[in-house]
Order: sequence, then structure tokens, then C-alpha cells
Amino acid sequence: MELIRAHEIMLTHPKHQQLPCAPEYAFGAAYVADHFCPVFEASIPFYDAGFFHADAVYDVVSVSRGMFFRLEEHQARFAKACDTIRVKNPFTREQEAAILHEMVARAGLRDAYVWWTVTRGMPPMGRNEMVHPEKFENRFYGMAVPFIFMFDDDQRACGVDLIVSRNHIRIPSRSVDPRAKNFHWLDMQLALFEAGKRGGEWAVLTDADGFLAEATGANIFAVIQDEVVTPDAGCLEGITRRSVFDLCEELGIPSSARKIHADELRTADEVFMTTTAGSIMPVRSVDGKPVCEHGGAGEISVRLHNLYWEKRWSGWHGTPVKYEPMGN
Ligand SMILES: Cc1ncc(COP(=O)(O)O)c(C=O)c1O
Repeated sequence: MELIRAHEIMLTHPKHQQLPCAPEYAFGAAYVADHFCPVFEASIPFYDAGFFHADAVYDVVSVSRGMFFRLEEHQARFAKACDTIRVKNPFTREQEAAILHEMVARAGLRDAYVWWTVTRGMPPMGRNEMVHPEKFENRFYGMAVPFIFMFDDDQRACGVDLIVSRNHIRIPSRSVDPRAKNFHWLDMQLALFEAGKRGGEWAVLTDADGFLAEATGANIFAVIQDEVVTPDAGCLEGITRRSVFDLCEELGIPSSARKIHADELRTADEVFMTTTAGSIMPVRSVDGKPVCEHGGAGEISVRLHNLYWEKRWSGWHGTPVKYEPMGN
């Protein structure tokens, strides 16, 4: 089965064409604390603890063919993350949704990567004030830019080369809960540079005992004895991961979340990663050893990838973007 060239379709199919917009918004729109602006004009104060201490939670939802995907589920996950790290979103769920819609609409994007965050924001200045989260001035920022693929069509079609990091483990959940999508990225970023050194294209991290946690910015899956499996802990509960469970059910493929040792990945029948920014991404080698006998993307991985895009473009879990002018 051929992999659907989703990026090429986004660039060429009329249903994906960017709508007319003000020229300053052509590259994307942002929201900074209390106002919209073109994405390249957006900035944050140095003093914001989100920048200063990576003290923030965020989420990313995608838009394709003019529809948000599982928007309410992304918003629900984000609200939970805010509670986990004790920041208060200055906006209600409805106001937040209105901002996300308007950023996409301002840029006229039919395919978008829509990112938003609430940071710890400005710290209180008084003595002993820093121990009270409610004394910080939490801040909201967001942006909508043209859709970003973690791997291009060719890479997804032939599968990417993955390494299991030897130098870095994923931060333990007790230190930073990965279920609250947050700015703590250094373990994943450094593992990515390790991949570069070892001739790989991407990295997956384990916990301290060698059980898989997650890949840099993505969930990890394996096909083992005809079952699609993914770690049950130590990772973000990805919305694409949830979609894979739904797709497996539709295709009649058993799937489950369980503890998976890194050694199982090296002998799996197929391996793939999932993320909003790229959907389902087949893996062709782990630590330099081919995953599939034929050396490319696995059959189940490609079937899941294709069904994902076919269903999305037919409106699955879709919320149409409100493109009509909303007033400022
Ligand atoms: C660390 C991490 N794990 C997993 C994912 C995948 O989550 P989702 O499918 O909701 O995009 C992401 C997405 O950015 C991530 O940053």
C-alpha cells in the first residue's frame, strides 16, 4: 500500500488553499496576552517564567481542510495540565476556543499548526511571595502557522531511522508529569542530538529501567505479535495516540497500552511514532537495524496513516474553523 502524500495534497489541492488574508498575517497569526498580531511581531517579556524557567504548559491542535481535529479533547487536556502545574488560564474554555479560531481565520489557513500556552508569567516582587502560585500573573500566548510535518512525505513513506537514547532517560513522572504537556524538553532535545551523532533521524527515550517512555515530541508504538502496543506510563497521553486506538478498533487490529522494554522495540514487526505535527510516522530502523524485512515502512503503520488522513478529511472529530470576520 502506498502512503498518502498528505503534505503534497495540502500544498496542491484546492480544498487546502489558503484563503485571502491581510498580507501581514500571511505567515501566521499570534495572540500575545491580550491582543492579536502577525506571528513575526509576537514577543514575550524576558521576565516571564515561561521563558526564564520553562515554567508553562501548552497544547497543539491541528487544522486540516478547514477543520480543527478533536479540538474539545485538546482543550480538556490543556485545562487538566493547567490544574496540574497550578496556573490559571486567564480565559474561559469558550474564550480560548474563540482565540484559536480567530488566529487561524486571520491567517486564512486551511491547514494549520495551532499552539497555545499559559505560562507562569510575571513573578511577584515581594518578600516570600514566590511560594504562592496565585501571586504570579499567568499569561496566555498562542499562534497559528501553516501546518508543520515532523517528517516530510518521503520520510514517512520510507520510514525514519530511530535510535533508543543511551545518554538520556525521560524525566521521571514524579519530577515533571509528562501528562501535563509542558516546556520541559531538554532530555528529549539532547536525545535528538545524540540521534544525529549516531546517524539516526529521531530518538526515543526510556525510563531508568529501560522501559519505553516516549520519543522526542511524539508517542512510540510497536506492532508485536499482531498487536499494536504503546507505553502505558511515562508519556503524554497523545491525542494522535488516542486516534490510533480508534483506528485500530475500526480495522479490527488488537491494540493496548502496556509496559514495553526497549529490547522489544528492536525485535518488533513494525514501529511507528505519533504526534499532532505529523500524524503517524513509520520507522524503518531502530539503532541501525531494519525493523521490517523489506526495510521500509510497515504495512499496518501505512494503513493507519492513510485511514487517519482519509477520515480527517471526511470530517472525523472535526470542528469547522469560523472564518467569517469576528470583529476585534
Ligand atoms: C512529549 C510528547 N509526547 C507525545 C506527543 C504527541 O501528542 P499529540 O498526539 O497529542 O500531539 C507530543 C506532542 O507534541 C509530545 O510533545
